[in-house]
Amino acid sequence: MTRVIFRFLDKPSQNKQYDEQHTEQYKGLNLLAHAQIIERSLQSRCGGQNACGTCRVRVVTGTVSAMNSEERALLEKLGGQNVHRLACQCFPEGVDEVIVEVPQERFKDARHTKE
Ligand code: FES
Repeated sequence: MTRVIFRFLDKPSQNKQYDEQHTEQYKGLNLLAHAQIIERSLQSRCGGQNACGTCRVRVVTGTVSAMNSEERALLEKLGGQNVHRLACQCFPEGVDEVIVEVPQERFKDARHTKE
């Protein structure tokens, strides 16, 4: 079974303590949408328009879409082009698992806010 695994880091990444959740790999959905499926909203100030950089994540393993020139330009501006991807521009591809790390400041847990 192909999955997208999110590791939501509870502490700064050097400590590597995280809460892990996964979704099935839905063709055509970017990582931002995958996170919404498991009710963990990633920061996305521009609404997924490749303009804010608040959705930056780290793809640890797995095959994902190639970085386009607009994404690369924004990440270069933000200083994270070598380790980060924009979740709104990054699509899982292939059949292998995709593991994604999300720092605490970049996600909101919506699982416990429903009535
Ligand atoms: S949500 Fe703004 S760049 Fe991804």
